Amino acid sequence: MYGMIHKAIRDMVKTVHGDQAWLSILSESGASDSDFLSLRSYDDEIAYNLVGACSRILGASAEACLEDFGRYWVLVTASEHYSDMMKSYGQDTFSLLTRMNEMHERISSTFSGYKPPFFTVDVINEQHYLLHYRSIRTGLSPFVVGLVQGLGEFYNESVNITLDKTENENGGEYSVFSVTRGPASSE
Ligand code: HEM
Repeated sequence: MYGMIHKAIRDMVKTVHGDQAWLSILSESGASDSDFLSLRSYDDEIAYNLVGACSRILGASAEACLEDFGRYWVLVTASEHYSDMMKSYGQDTFSLLTRMNEMHERISSTFSGYKPPFFTVDVINEQHYLLHYRSIRTGLSPFVVGLVQGLGEFYNESVNITLDKTENENGGEYSVFSVTRGPASSE
């Protein structure tokens, strides 16, 4: 994945857990200082190793680390550099998600040859929709949960997301999430 992703993981760990935690994670992951160039594409293994190292050093599950990272990505990384673009593509979480493929496509000249996921949205009713996620990678569904929670905060909305099902598809992953708007429900 692009180094921008590695860099955001590093920023999050340093900000939330401090420099010492980061040095331990870097060493545990086996990554090197040259693996953090934003506009360079790296083997996916580096990102997976960074997440695995976060999990072991911070004593949290890899899923929890990915969720935290998703929220951080939207609320800090994307908000800092792409806030205007996100607002121009969507005025709320739902409308941005319906145009996510277009937005990833739009930045494909910056991130040439990158492999973003593909999203579709099925409306159940005004308060409830299904988000379909397809990736060439596996294991990143918890990242989507955090990203969507982050979008809810970014747009100042109450958004709940739960994973309904996940399966392997063509060597990658296909997951369906249930997303509801409004106050948290026990559904
Ligand atoms: C607005 C700023 C955004 C930028 C600049 C951006 C850019 C990127 C980049 C560079 C990658 C790495 C892909 C690769 O190297 O092959 C990526 C992956 C990803 N993006 Fe975005 N993205 C943005 C917003 C979002 C949002 C809002 C979502 C959530 C719905 C999202 C969902 C994902 C996911 C889930 C991946 C992981 C790759 C995978 O699932 O296979 N992105 N994005």
